[in-house]
Amino acid sequence: MERYDLVVIGGGPGGYVCAIRAAQLGLRVALVEKRPTLGGTCLNIGCIPSKALLESSELYSVARHKLERHGIAVSGLSLELATMLARKDKVVSELTSGLDLLMKKNKIERLRGSGRLLDANTVRVDLNDAEAVNLGAEAIVLATGSVPVELPFLRFDGETIVSSTEALSFDRVPKRLLVIGAGAIGLEMGSVWSRLGSAVTVVELLDRIAPLSDAEMSAALQRVLQRQGLTFKLEHKVTGASVNDGVATLRFENKKGEAGEIEGEKVLVAVGRRAYSEGLALDSVGLKTERNGKLAVDAGLRTAVPSIYAIGDLIDGPMLAHKAEEEGVAVAEALAAGAGHVNYEAIPNVIYTHPELAEVGLSEAAAKEKGFEVRVGTYMFRANGRAKTLDDVDGVVKLVACARTDRLLGAHIVGPRASDLIPELVLALEFKASAEDVARTVHAHPTLSEAIKEAALAVGGSPIHG
Ligand code: NAI
Repeated sequence: MERYDLVVIGGGPGGYVCAIRAAQLGLRVALVEKRPTLGGTCLNIGCIPSKALLESSELYSVARHKLERHGIAVSGLSLELATMLARKDKVVSELTSGLDLLMKKNKIERLRGSGRLLDANTVRVDLNDAEAVNLGAEAIVLATGSVPVELPFLRFDGETIVSSTEALSFDRVPKRLLVIGAGAIGLEMGSVWSRLGSAVTVVELLDRIAPLSDAEMSAALQRVLQRQGLTFKLEHKVTGASVNDGVATLRFENKKGEAGEIEGEKVLVAVGRRAYSEGLALDSVGLKTERNGKLAVDAGLRTAVPSIYAIGDLIDGPMLAHKAEEEGVAVAEALAAGAGHVNYEAIPNVIYTHPELAEVGLSEAAAKEKGFEVRVGTYMFRANGRAKTLDDVDGVVKLVACARTDRLLGAHIVGPRASDLIPELVLALEFKASAEDVARTVHAHPTLSEAIKEAALAVGGSPIHG
C-alpha cells in the first residue's frame, strides 16, 4: 500500500488548493477525484462557465442596446448560441488542463476514482478504469463539496426542470424561463438568458432578492434588473408543478394566500445547494453528518476523528470557492507548519449580474443586531466621472462603520465591476481600517474606485463631490 502524508478526497477549489499548498510545504500528497477533470463544481459547472456566459451575453446585450449611444451602428446582429457555448466550454477546458499541469509540477499523485474511508488512516479508491487501491494517509482531507437542492414536488429531469448545470448549456434560448430562487444562481443565470432573449420570471420565497445581502443593495439591484426585463415574484411560495408536452406549469401562493399559475419552457430550480458526502463511508470511522448534511469541525477544521479534516461546502459557512480555498490552505499549513487560519469576518461575496453586487463584512442590519451604533456612507455611481464615461452609472457604494471608533464593519457595492472594486475593502477589513483610512487613501482619477473614497468621506459627513 502506498503511504502519503496527506490524501485529499475531492478535487474542487478546496481540495486541489489544499493539495498544492501541502505539496509546496514538502508533504507527500495524493488527490482523489472521480470527475475526469479537476476544478470541481466551480470550474466545470459553476463559477467559470457561468462567468463566461455572463460575459458573452452582456456583450450581446451591449451590442443590441448600448452601442448606438456611442455612435456605433450595428446591422445584421445575430446570436450564434452554439459558438457562445463552445467558447464557454473552451474556457473551462483550458483551465482544467492547467490544473493537470499544476498537479504534475507539484508532484501530487492524482487518482481518478471515488474515494471512501476504510479507517482513520486509510482511503480506498475505486478507480474509474482499474482495480481499487488502498492509500495509507497520516491525514485525510474531505473536500467533496455540494450538489443542488431539489424541491420534493419538482424533481430535476434534466430537460424541463433543471439545475444550474443544464442551465449552462440550453441548446436554444427558451421563450419563457422560470427561475425558482433569487439567490446567486437564480440572478446570474436568469440574467444570462434574459439578455439572450428569454422572458425570465424569478419566483422567490422571501421578501427581497439576494436575501443575505444588505437590504438597500437588494433593492438597488432589483430595480436595475427589473429595468433590464427580469420579472420578480417576491414572497411567492411554489406549491406544485406539472410538466406537459415540454411546458411546465408552476403553481404558487403569494403572501396573502392567493393562488396563481405560471407557464414556462424551462424551470431553473436555484433554491440552494446541500453538502455532498455520499459514498465517503463516514460511518466506517464513526463520523455522522449534521441535520443539514454538513460535517462538524473544530476551529482547526478537524472532524471528530483527529486525522480527518473537512473543508469547503461540506462544512459550515458560505458555499464559496474562495472560502474553500482558504480553508484548504489553512489545513495544509497546519499539517506542515503547525498553524493555519481563516478570517471568516472578511470573506467577500459577489453576484455577477450587471451591475455586479459585491460585499464584505456586516450589513447595516447585521451590525445593528450585533449591538454596534453605526455610521453609514453612500455614494452613487451616477456621480462618478469614470462610470459616466463607461456609460455604466447604475449602482451605489455603501460603507458601514462603527460610530464610536470609525472602524469599517462592512462594505457593499452594486456597480460596474464591483467584483474588482471590493478587494480594497476586504483588505481594509483585514487590517481593521477605519472609514477615514479609506477616505485618506489616494485613489487614482478617474476610476470607479473613487466612489469608494467618496462613500468613506460620506461616513464622516463630507464627500467632496456629493
Ligand atoms: P442561494 O442560497 O444563494 O439562494 C437560494 C434562494 O432561493 C434564496 O433567495 C431562497 O430564499 C430561495 N428559496 C429557497 N427555497 C425556495 C422556494 N421553495 N421557493 C422560492 N424560493 C426559494 O442558492 P443558489 O442561488 O442556488 O446558489 C447555491 C450556492 O452556490 C450558494 O451558496 C451560493 O452562494 C453559491 N453560488 C455562488 C455564486 C457566486 O459567488 N457568484 C454563484 C452561484 C452560486
